[in-house]
Amino acid sequence: MIRPALSPLPTTLDYSALSKEELTERIHWRKRDLNAVILGHNYQRVEIQDVSDFLGDSLALSQEAAGTEADVIVFCGVHFMAETAKILSPEKTVLMPDLRAGCPMADFVTPEALRRVKAAHPDALVVAYVNSSAEVKAESDICCTSSNAVAVVESLPESRPVILLPDRNLAAYVAEKTGRTNIIPWDGYCYVHDDMVLEELERARAKHPGALVVIHPEARQDLLDRADRVTSTSGMVRLAREHDALIIGTERGLVDRLRQQYPHKTLVPLSGAAVCGNMKLNTLPKLAWSMDHLRHEVTMDEDIRSRAEASLRRMLEVSGGWRAPAGEPDALVAAGVGPSGCGCA
Ligand code: 13P
Ligand code: SF4
Repeated sequence: MIRPALSPLPTTLDYSALSKEELTERIHWRKRDLNAVILGHNYQRVEIQDVSDFLGDSLALSQEAAGTEADVIVFCGVHFMAETAKILSPEKTVLMPDLRAGCPMADFVTPEALRRVKAAHPDALVVAYVNSSAEVKAESDICCTSSNAVAVVESLPESRPVILLPDRNLAAYVAEKTGRTNIIPWDGYCYVHDDMVLEELERARAKHPGALVVIHPEARQDLLDRADRVTSTSGMVRLAREHDALIIGTERGLVDRLRQQYPHKTLVPLSGAAVCGNMKLNTLPKLAWSMDHLRHEVTMDEDIRSRAEASLRRMLEVSGGWRAPAGEPDALVAAGVGPSGCGCA
């Protein structure tokens, strides 16, 4: 049981008055008490990453959520990620420190709009990027993430058109990599990645001419065309281990953590303005509050959950199962870390 000195406080404001050390101690105690695991996305604030049991990209986090033996999953990411954990582990309690942490890209698609597009393309298969709601996943044939999108689309019969949602940039990238001309993109985007522009890349390159340019596939095509590597956030983590100088085209949280981890390397953000305010809604005080009060619990209708699970399971089958790949060489291949690679799981 939790020791009396660490009994719950009434509001998040009370937690904000505690020091980082007190909050960290409280989180560790509660984790043992609940048999909980904290899953953190690579874009989380560094202090959240520090208390996370597992850090990763969307694919690795979903694999971890599906395989964990904990009773409680505390998800520090955005809503679709916590929902994915609940879909894959329905018997577990899944908590989010702040329910408002949604993904604006996921909000581009509603189940009604998707049903309309499906009716207009009755022979098409639907590939839902995991950045989508459980209801949208339930309406889809298979899911994908940034690290397996190419492999997922390649697993589908070439004769069938593919509705790829919600990211138009990812859809364009996958179309180019697979050579398919029958991909129907959704007109959604991620404001963090879509806002990165060529001038920023050129400035960074002029300053760091020897640095490897790694960019997330949610960025625009003109940037991806100039990247040395296109990969998921975990692919970037692995590249930072291997290289001394990187220009990193993704959210700042990841770059900040890598700089802390490798202070002697040259790790520069492609854009200093690339901040996902939604991811940053999770804070250490809110995390401690969430665990002490078992809030906010993620729930969903069982019919939606089981249909969404079928789409996620199909994706995980293409990506080699439930667990994150263990061996480093395998992990590199699975993360699509090859020349401009993305999605060769
Ligand atoms: P990753 O799966 O590459 O971590 O990306 C998730 C995301 O939300 C990127 O914006
Ligand atoms: Fe969504 Fe973009 Fe934030 Fe990722 S970075 S969670 S895609 S808004």
